[in-house]
Amino acid sequence: ALVRRTCFVTGAVDMNGCPEADRGEVAFIGRSNVGKSSLVNMLTNRKSLAFISKTPGKTQQFNYFAVNDKPDLERQIRYGDEVLGSKDRDSFYIVDLPGFGFAKVPQKQRQEWSDFMDEYLQKRETLRVIFHLIDARHGPTEEDAKIMHKVGTIMGSKEQRNNAKYIIILTKADKNVKSASSEKNPGKVSKSVLDKLMNTMKANHVGYAPIVLTSAETRLGRDEVWKYLRLAAEK
Ligand code: GTP
Ligand code: MG
Repeated sequence: ALVRRTCFVTGAVDMNGCPEADRGEVAFIGRSNVGKSSLVNMLTNRKSLAFISKTPGKTQQFNYFAVNDKPDLERQIRYGDEVLGSKDRDSFYIVDLPGFGFAKVPQKQRQEWSDFMDEYLQKRETLRVIFHLIDARHGPTEEDAKIMHKVGTIMGSKEQRNNAKYIIILTKADKNVKSASSEKNPGKVSKSVLDKLMNTMKANHVGYAPIVLTSAETRLGRDEVWKYLRLAAEK
């Protein structure tokens, strides 16, 4: 099995709040309500590891989840609950970020998240994969273009302290994409969405990133995304 166990580790609001950088990690970024937390649950086979909501703005911190931690039995006995594990061979962190672009989040808060994200994308040495989630029906928005620009500027710059890959995930394929139902039948993303995506990538210095079509409902794209998660688990 790819996932033996997963647990919530911490919610960070700045670099100091991130756990020790002792293993690889992957980050899920994207517009509010695009389906980041739902995808984290789908990938880890959990119903409500990451909290989801119909209302945008649900995730309020950089939520760290440890996948395949070795349980720390000593701590467990001391504190009597399921606690943070210690690093195992194939363990890594999943980081579920607050969404951007939600008007009801106060400007000050949005700015703090945005600053933290800049610093995080540049400085987090163990960051291996940046998944940028975009709605498969609409394609990239203005905000998505800004994020691509940010990532494109950081990638390969002197400031970048990791060698993170950038992957686009098109979400909610069950709703948005013609007849998408399974790995075998991924369905079709509309040509206008793909064109828009290609043009936005080109205009914002991210080159042509790999694109994966997913659905948290039908589990479409799970194996494909896991190929990248495995990169984070490797040394
Ligand atoms: P924030 O935490 O606000 O940034 O949102 P988020 O990106 O984490 O989105 P979340 O996972 O909370 O999902 C938002 C809404 O979209 C919820 O009502 C989910 O049930 C729904 N949703 C997410 N993924 C899918 C999907 O693949 N298919 C369908 N049909 N609905 C989905
Ligand atoms: Mg969320």
